[in-house]
Amino acid sequence: MRDLTFALTKGRLAEKTLSLLSQCGIHCEDLSEDSRKLVFVDPENHVRFFMAKAADVPTYVEQGAADIGIVGKDVLLEEQKDLYEVLDLGFGKCRMAVAGFPEGKKLLNQRGDFRVGSKYPEIARRYFLSRHQQPLILKLNGSVELAPIVGLADVIVDIVETGSTLAANGLVVLDAFLEISARMVVNKASMKLHAERINGLIQQMSEALRRMEDGR
Ligand code: PRP
Repeated sequence: MRDLTFALTKGRLAEKTLSLLSQCGIHCEDLSEDSRKLVFVDPENHVRFFMAKAADVPTYVEQGAADIGIVGKDVLLEEQKDLYEVLDLGFGKCRMAVAGFPEGKKLLNQRGDFRVGSKYPEIARRYFLSRHQQPLILKLNGSVELAPIVGLADVIVDIVETGSTLAANGLVVLDAFLEISARMVVNKASMKLHAERINGLIQQMSEALRRMEDGR
């Protein structure tokens, strides 16, 4: 039997993803984030794993280098790849929001003469377009909260989980406009070629999620 390959997301989703897979009897103990090894195998289940940066997971899955991916809805909305989103995993919950200093609120009602810092330029562009605004959007790669503080941007578009990063920097949510959580995605050809195995996995994952929910 051919191994099914999973692309998993490094960072905040990793621990819950590994625990969900282990609830399904799929084990990847070696897959610690400290390890320099990149690909791991669970020979019993004919499954292979690798950890990638969130933004790269949809590319691996769309191109068929991975059959299945676990990644946040924020990244799926930003990357817009051609793949199937098959299951909401319900963890990694956060909101996509416009944030800034409290006085940023009035800027949001202007036609578009302001600057937006974001790791999610596409999501930001679509959000403002839906409001008939075309601000200058500056793509950043991290620590986005810095942008309004040092005067690079007037507002940011970013994920807010606990809100503590914003609060620690004197920033507030100005408009929370999307609910985000982790999703399971599948390559389109893999879904056809391995329908039975992949549907079985979706079923197993849904049951494990229900058990995890009940046990909370
Ligand atoms: C994310 C996000 C915020 C923070 C929100 O950044 O971009 O900065 O987490 O979380 P909170 O509401 O619980 O404070 P991440 O930690 O992924 O790091 P990065 O800024 O380097 O991308």
